[in-house]
Amino acid sequence: MNFIDDTKYNLVSNDTFYPIIQSSYDGIYVADGKGNGVLVNQAYSRITGISPDDLIGKNMKEVVEKGLVSESVTFKVLEERKPITITQIVKGKEVLVTGNPVFDQKTGVIAYVVTNMRDITELNQLKFELRKSRQLTQKYLDEIEDFKNKEIYQMHLDGIVAHDKEIIKVLKLAQKVAKVDSTVLLLGESGVGKEVIVKLLHNTSHRANNPLIKVNCAAIPEHLLESELFGYEKGAFTGADNRGKPGLFEQANGGTIFLDEIGDMQLDLQAKLLRVLQEFEITRVGGRKPVKIDVRVVSATNMNLEQIVKEGKFREDLYYRLNIVPIKIPPLRNRRADVAPLAYFFLNKTNNRYQFTKRFQPDVIHYFEQYMWPGNIREMENLIERLVVTSDHDEIRIDDLPLSVLDSGVSKKPEKLSLKEITENLERRIIKENLEEYKTTRKVAEILGMSQSTLVKKMKRLGI
Ligand SMILES: Nc1ncnc2c1ncn2[C@@H]1O[C@H](COP(=O)(O)OP(=O)(O)O)[C@@H](O)[C@H]1O
Ligand SMILES: [Mg+2]
Repeated sequence: MNFIDDTKYNLVSNDTFYPIIQSSYDGIYVADGKGNGVLVNQAYSRITGISPDDLIGKNMKEVVEKGLVSESVTFKVLEERKPITITQIVKGKEVLVTGNPVFDQKTGVIAYVVTNMRDITELNQLKFELRKSRQLTQKYLDEIEDFKNKEIYQMHLDGIVAHDKEIIKVLKLAQKVAKVDSTVLLLGESGVGKEVIVKLLHNTSHRANNPLIKVNCAAIPEHLLESELFGYEKGAFTGADNRGKPGLFEQANGGTIFLDEIGDMQLDLQAKLLRVLQEFEITRVGGRKPVKIDVRVVSATNMNLEQIVKEGKFREDLYYRLNIVPIKIPPLRNRRADVAPLAYFFLNKTNNRYQFTKRFQPDVIHYFEQYMWPGNIREMENLIERLVVTSDHDEIRIDDLPLSVLDSGVSKKPEKLSLKEITENLERRIIKENLEEYKTTRKVAEILGMSQSTLVKKMKRLGI
């Protein structure tokens, strides 16, 4: 408790005391034992916005009645005869107010109440931010812990996007199989990423520094495929290079050979391939001496091999030889979680390549997620490149999408459109597509069965 000898310290007039109180950053208000203001510093006025004239010589009761302050600490201290602290909102700021009684040494009555006022808005802000950053730290710690405990749910391999658990399974299997030389058969529709998997298999194997040779069995004319694969000796056939030539199997020695579209291989060649897979030696066309080779064979097809085995178009024994480790790559429509990440991946790729800064209107991704992608990832890659290169705005909009993609989204549209809007969207799309194809409004008007002037008016209305 504070006692003050009135004769020694005259609070109001003391020359040293007064400037000290004035220079305090905290607000200070002093009332006498009846609650009349006797001293107030600048900080108090700054914090409360109440002028000293409204305080000095005025009783705190009046000040409260006038509504200048909501609550009086001074009167609480006078009532309870002890220090009191409250928090108050003053001018939108949170302030901490502490009142202290100063007792008269002789009589023991309260001579003064000294009130100290501190703006704690900033302090609270800091407290809040500290709490927030602690929560954030905890969240990150939890996430790291989760990441360690749970299965890694996103794979980051060079240039391979994989968020969907279906494709992550495939990639994990591929990484496992890469360590061994077993023959792998990749199954999946066109454009799902079979070749991506082959590269992964090769690049993460001990063969990575040796060649990866790709053979498209459907693209090489039948009569050339055998000599392409196995090579030939000089004079093997007319037109053959007279020094002879090693085949692709020999070129792949020490590495990996990828036989794409294996389902298209002719039956007689299938028999020869089977021999290679059994003996791991090849005989050049026109040659007699077999040569040992060390290759890892990966084949791929988008056909149903079991079906063509049943139809007698594919050798069953070869099928089993190739199918030692089958890896089935699901189509994009069954990997919905990959759609958005892939779309942004290709957007960035194309932007970077052509120095564009295009972006998607959010609904575009919604349509992508509904679409069936019959051409899978290849189709998406090509579509996005086309959209980036041809769209008129920096934002790729729904209007820019081809009809095939738009149609798939009709049943699950993100927003409710009026019939008029739907009709207009349709008109806009049809006109745009025809313009792309036929270039002139005259021709398009003719095709759509209207006069050129009607078409031009319509285009204006539709903002084309
Ligand atoms: N997971 C993926 N992440 C990024 N790009 C991919 C992915 N899968 C496929 N692609 C790309 O899609 C295109 C088609 O893939 P590709 O391996 O050629 O398919 P497939 O051989 O099954 O027809 C390629 O340009 C490829 O780079
Ligand atoms: Mg392919």
